[in-house]
Amino acid sequence: MAWLLFVFLSLVPYLSVAEGLAVAKPDCRTKCGDVDVPYPFGIDPGCFLEGFHLNCSKNATDGPYMLRIGNIEVLEILLATGQARMDNHISWQCYDVKTNNITTFIWQKNFMSTQYAISPQNKFVTIGCDTLAYNTMFDHKYDEYRTACGSNCYSQASLANGSCSGIGCCESPIPPGIQYSSVSFDKNFNSSSVANFSRCSYAVVMEADNFTFSTTFVTGYNFWDKYNGRAPILIDWSIGNETCEAASKGSNYACVSSNSVCVNKQIW
Ligand SMILES: *[C@@H]1O[C@H](CO)[C@@H](O)[C@H](O)[C@H]1NC(C)=O
Ligand SMILES: *[C@@H]1O[C@H](CO)[C@@H](O)[C@H](O)[C@H]1NC(C)=O
Ligand SMILES: *[C@@H]1O[C@H](CO)[C@@H](O)[C@H](O)[C@H]1NC(C)=O
Ligand SMILES: *[C@@H]1O[C@H](CO)[C@@H](O)[C@H](O)[C@H]1NC(C)=O
Ligand SMILES: *[C@@H]1O[C@H](CO)[C@@H](O)[C@H](O)[C@H]1NC(C)=O
Ligand SMILES: *[C@@H]1O[C@H](CO)[C@@H](O)[C@H](O)[C@H]1NC(C)=O
Ligand SMILES: *[C@@H]1O[C@H](CO)[C@@H](O)[C@H](O)[C@H]1NC(C)=O
Ligand SMILES: *[C@@H]1O[C@H](CO)[C@@H](O)[C@H](O)[C@H]1NC(C)=O
Repeated sequence: MAWLLFVFLSLVPYLSVAEGLAVAKPDCRTKCGDVDVPYPFGIDPGCFLEGFHLNCSKNATDGPYMLRIGNIEVLEILLATGQARMDNHISWQCYDVKTNNITTFIWQKNFMSTQYAISPQNKFVTIGCDTLAYNTMFDHKYDEYRTACGSNCYSQASLANGSCSGIGCCESPIPPGIQYSSVSFDKNFNSSSVANFSRCSYAVVMEADNFTFSTTFVTGYNFWDKYNGRAPILIDWSIGNETCEAASKGSNYACVSSNSVCVNKQIW
């Protein structure tokens, strides 16, 4: 297993995935709540490939079972594309007119030294009327990337549904191979001047296809409410560094089922 872990951390970018590879062991759970857990992922000891362990537990005694890696909920595992859909926390900053206080709550996601990377199919989305948010990122080589996203509203009337281009909404791309992301807000922009119609700002890395700007995200709490504080994020994962052709000749081949399909995938 030490050899496999070494492979995960190496820099050559290929993935071998077994599609439809059913786990034969009878004592392996293949479902957590409503979520399917296919190999190489697994919950119970001996049921997963190293680095693909997930936890399945109830968040509250009478709540539903939740599939998790660390404190992140796993919503869906997508074998065919070598991805998983997870639930990313939305960072926020609100201005309180009565107390003149600014409350900020920010999140970071850390997948350094794992076989997970934040997919470029996500984008960094910022919502607000007097907001400058930063996304500080690291790739697997610890190279730093920083993007800033600013949004302003000249007036409430300048906001338009479906348009995310700096008025009430800003978006910026995610480079390939990002394993760490930290969101922060610039202190010089705090919504105090627009607080009579927009007192909160939001920032999150989320699945690009899942986002459509609505003016109500700015004038109310609809963005937070729509996602209950957590937005879907696509995470790329990879098993090894070899091509399927090469891997199938080796002894550590992960695609061992006769009905398996092997997908080559570059995560950075
Ligand atoms: C899990 O429980 C914690 C603590 O009660 C709570 O803060 C969190 O929002 C819950 N997570 C989910 C996904 O329900
Ligand atoms: C699963 O939960 C245990 C106990 O809380 C924790 O030590 C471990 O790191 C978790 N593993 C994952 C993959 O989240
Ligand atoms: C507002 O901020 C001040 C100074 O930080 C603090 O003393 C006060 O408790 C805060 N008020 C509220 C309602 O959070
Ligand atoms: C945008 O759409 C929402 C409904 O999704 C609607 O309530 C709102 O009034 C629309 N905004 C504008 C400026 O038309
Ligand atoms: C909010 O930002 C404005 C403009 O930068 C600044 O003058 C003001 O002091 C800030 N308010 C608070 C509570 O920090
Ligand atoms: C907010 O205040 C500005 C200037 O003080 C004013 O022009 C605007 O109409 C106000 N908007 C609302 C929704 O009250
Ligand atoms: C967006 O994500 C939400 C929550 O995960 C989901 O219910 C919804 O179907 C998604 N919408 C699209 C267009 O992907
Ligand atoms: C995969 O990584 C291992 C360990 O770093 C290395 O020995 C091997 O040559 C690599 N395979 C390919 C195809 O690059």
